[in-house]
Amino acid sequence: MSTCLRGAAQVLRPPEDGLPFVRLDRAGAITADPGSVTLDGGVVAGFEADAGAPLQVDASGCAVVPGFVDCHTHLPFAGWRAQEYEQKVTGVPYEEIARRGGGIRASARALAETADDAVLAQARTLAREMLEHGTTTFECKSGYGLSVAGERRALELADRLEHEVEQATTATALLAHAVPDGYDADGWMAEVAGLVPAIARDGLAGALDIYVESIAFSNEHLARMGELAAAHELDLRAHVEQFNANRSVPVALAAGARSVDHLARLHPDDVAPLAAAECAAVLLPGAEVMGAEATPPARELADAGAIGVLATDANPGTSPVVSIPLVVGLAVRRYGWSVREALAACTLNAAWVLRRSAETGSLEVGKRADVLLLDGPVEHVPYRLGHNPVAAVWLAGELLWVRPDQAWRLAS
Ligand code: NIG
Ligand code: FE
Repeated sequence: MSTCLRGAAQVLRPPEDGLPFVRLDRAGAITADPGSVTLDGGVVAGFEADAGAPLQVDASGCAVVPGFVDCHTHLPFAGWRAQEYEQKVTGVPYEEIARRGGGIRASARALAETADDAVLAQARTLAREMLEHGTTTFECKSGYGLSVAGERRALELADRLEHEVEQATTATALLAHAVPDGYDADGWMAEVAGLVPAIARDGLAGALDIYVESIAFSNEHLARMGELAAAHELDLRAHVEQFNANRSVPVALAAGARSVDHLARLHPDDVAPLAAAECAAVLLPGAEVMGAEATPPARELADAGAIGVLATDANPGTSPVVSIPLVVGLAVRRYGWSVREALAACTLNAAWVLRRSAETGSLEVGKRADVLLLDGPVEHVPYRLGHNPVAAVWLAGELLWVRPDQAWRLAS
């Protein structure tokens, strides 16, 4: 059904059509002018009001923006780890919690003990919460399998989830997350090398991922994961520089990584090479705040023209956060980013990380109509911290959510 969102205070549009991403030193050229948007046939049809569209939406006072893309989540997972959060805030370090058998291993045990349908039920509930906060595309990761069979099961669950949620999803094989019991890191990487061909052959993931940290894997393992990714035409992503500075970014860049994620301890010398590379800097302020982590040099990355990205890192340990508006609010305050920088980071740039930016992530004629109506101007997204600004959500032109207090805006 054709829909016209008419008379918006702001329509967020990229500096020009056809961009795969917006380097953040160009974010100031993103426009947010008054206007209307028409959706038809599942795509953005134009930027004029169409009085003939069967569904008319009064967008007065509102912003119309692209659907959010959450390019770093750990869905599907089983249960939560709230008791660890209390340990963490009262002073037990994450590494120590992990050594005591908590952390990733605790979620691995929970996943192993939970039936497929129950895992998917939890993930569907979270996906719905994400949708109501504006997320129209999200990434799933394995990583809580911690065995050959467990990792494969996690990816198969992600595949099933794709058919059970309204959003578009992608899958990343986080095959080196924690060293499974009975292995050392080298031994587990040998298993990973055996597992990757089947994952690639069966189309279970579009990217490989690895966690580089003293309690997990090393830069040598990162380089090895890069070789595996290249050999099987998969993207390389990496959790790096979260708690300690390991100088993993040069290694990831040399391996052709699509993104480096976390970066709280990014070394100053690595800012310029990362910003110049065709590799996204995925920042995760939810994890930073919940874990009292360092703050990445995000202002410097933006000024240097990085492909800056924001995501929730939704997971039961470091970031039990699913709201992109909250992440935008944290990022703007913590990083000194403008609203346009932050919104580019969770729309077009995040879509690029997932190889989806030709179809979603910006409002352009012909792109999929993944569209949000916000209940105020874009400047309110970071400013009203904790408020959900999402009034209505369209995915491929289909209206999937209207906040009850905003239903009056719709007339057919
Ligand atoms: O992105 N740091 C490594 N991996 C996850 C945390 C996983 C967990 O604690 O369950 C992250 O923060
Ligand atoms: Fe993560």
